[in-house]
Amino acid sequence: MRNSVIAVEPIAGALGAEIAGVDLSQDLEETVFDAVHDALMQHGVVFFRDQDITPQQELDFAKRFGEIHFHPFVAGLPELPEVMEIIKTETDIRNFGEGWHTDQMFLPEPALATVLYAKEIPDFGGDTLYASMYAAYDALSDGMKELAGRLKTVNLPDAGRPRGKPATGSYNNLQTMGLSDTENYEKLSEHPLVRVHPVTGRKALYIGLHTERFANMTWAESQGLLNFLIDHATRPEFTCRFRWREGSLALWDNRAVLHNAINDYPGKRRRMHRVTVKGDAPY
Ligand code: SIN
Repeated sequence: MRNSVIAVEPIAGALGAEIAGVDLSQDLEETVFDAVHDALMQHGVVFFRDQDITPQQELDFAKRFGEIHFHPFVAGLPELPEVMEIIKTETDIRNFGEGWHTDQMFLPEPALATVLYAKEIPDFGGDTLYASMYAAYDALSDGMKELAGRLKTVNLPDAGRPRGKPATGSYNNLQTMGLSDTENYEKLSEHPLVRVHPVTGRKALYIGLHTERFANMTWAESQGLLNFLIDHATRPEFTCRFRWREGSLALWDNRAVLHNAINDYPGKRRRMHRVTVKGDAPY
């Protein structure tokens, strides 16, 4: 019977675990929710298979983690705006979420967690990669930890840049997904490069494709260290890879995890429902 005995199986060394025995169409009892929350804190990203849930049930599950965060540029479903549809059709070139990032790092209070539910998945391709920013921070030398601990990053929505180039207009290239409020693309948010996780107390690198440069430094001055840190943070041993099936659901902690939606399924369709949970200002 589901929702009485749950099993948590890690899928890689640094992060990621599959949780079995949970039916997310039901209202989870406190003990089951606590076990899911503990697994999320321990593994950074957790996965559930074979879920059959409505947008409202996905939203109800997300709300257990906190208030809902709305994407500033992408509208939600007309009937349930808290749920955003991520879609790449047969004719789209770009996909949403390609490149290593943490959700809405360009805002003063970025998303705490993300729930992503697979509606349509190509027969192959379209996996998502995740990387542990605890592991990335822990592996830095003492000297680099000391330097990183003093730096702040400047982040903006459209910093999604090809390596070595400034911002390119990444959101504008998404054809099928609707966009709004595009005049706010240039708004900046500063964050510490190393953040302390408010629940676990662990330190994590906080960096991604939205990071344009370091505060009080020029773009050119920042690139060497920025590129080193992104390469370091996404070393294979700090990552896991999730192969989606229809009905799979991922839940990740944006405070300690980067993700990257692989765009390797040209001519095919992939459709997901995403809900994000509101976070606090990183410290
Ligand atoms: C995202 O960045 O939230 C999208 C991830 C995905 O579609 O796999």
